[in-house]
Amino acid sequence: MTPATLDATVLEELVSAAVAAPSMHNTQPWRFHLRPETHTVEIRAALDRALRAEDPDVRGLHVSAGAAAFNLRLAVTHHGWEPVLRLLPDPHEPQLLASVRLAGGPHARATTAPDLYDQIWRRHTSRSPFSARPLPGPLWAELVDAARVEGAHLHVPDPDETRRLLDLTYEAETRTIADEERREESRGWIRSEAGTEFGIPPEALGPQDAAGHLPMRDFSALHPPTPQPAKPFEQHPQLAVLATDHDHPADWLRTGLALQHVLLLATRDQVQASLLHQAVEWPDLRWVLRDPRNGPEHVQMLIRLGYGPEGAPTPRMVASGALA
Ligand SMILES: Cc1cc2nc3c(=O)[nH]c(=O)nc-3n(C[C@H](O)[C@H](O)[C@H](O)COP(=O)(O)O)c2cc1C
Repeated sequence: MTPATLDATVLEELVSAAVAAPSMHNTQPWRFHLRPETHTVEIRAALDRALRAEDPDVRGLHVSAGAAAFNLRLAVTHHGWEPVLRLLPDPHEPQLLASVRLAGGPHARATTAPDLYDQIWRRHTSRSPFSARPLPGPLWAELVDAARVEGAHLHVPDPDETRRLLDLTYEAETRTIADEERREESRGWIRSEAGTEFGIPPEALGPQDAAGHLPMRDFSALHPPTPQPAKPFEQHPQLAVLATDHDHPADWLRTGLALQHVLLLATRDQVQASLLHQAVEWPDLRWVLRDPRNGPEHVQMLIRLGYGPEGAPTPRMVASGALA
């Protein structure tokens, strides 16, 4: 494909791809800005949609923006340019999280990697139970590799380690529900009104695990989890752990790149996913999420993967409204 002209239609397509990324509570905490003189699209933090109680250091906001940057880079390649991605390009402007310059001439495609562009529109979080069917080994290897390419580690815990991670998530979920500020903030992002652009519609929340076996996030914070695993939510939860060597804003953005790369590969192979981020939101629990066998690193995200029902779509801001 030869490069298109960067007209308003193409720009809106690029931004639509970016905003299709996952974000914490679907806050979509980003704004886009075109620098026409350098053919550069900037991603800036929308701090008015930051989660002050659940994400006080804006780590999750950076992860969300990193996922949007992955989509933007993919869309730029898909439209025939060579994307030049820079994370935190201006040290004096920490709210400028990333920029993607549209470079190159015809045949500029910089990558031989499979084109995941179409998966951007198919991917949704699925909070339903998944079947016991294991993910194939070659797919796991591909996911690990994808995270590495983006500057993160993806670990695949064994069943004992999975149980330990779920127990910590359960502990975090219990704490979050008991914390009035966090509880109210989370509830405020469940949106049932038509025409809303942000937040999570009730139909995307999935069933609650009344048995407490798999600590799915209770966004409404109405059901204190019960510790008695009567009927399991799913038989064999399959988790992956995203971690980075350091814990600076650039590492959080890289986590977002890795997360989205992993999620789009999973989508390509009809594998569903949801995220279990609760324990990462409590510093002491986040510390013990770390498996010492993996060396000194910082856990950024737990991803639950498997075969099951597709998730429901969530709303998005319109591209023209996301451009500032
Ligand atoms: C940093 C981050 C943390 C998230 N934490 C959770 C979580 O703990 N539980 C959950 O079910 N979804 C979690 N999500 C998924 C978002 O709720 C979801 O991406 C958003 O509602 C948009 O829906 P979609 O992924 O279907 O497009 C998280 C997403 C991000 C980027």
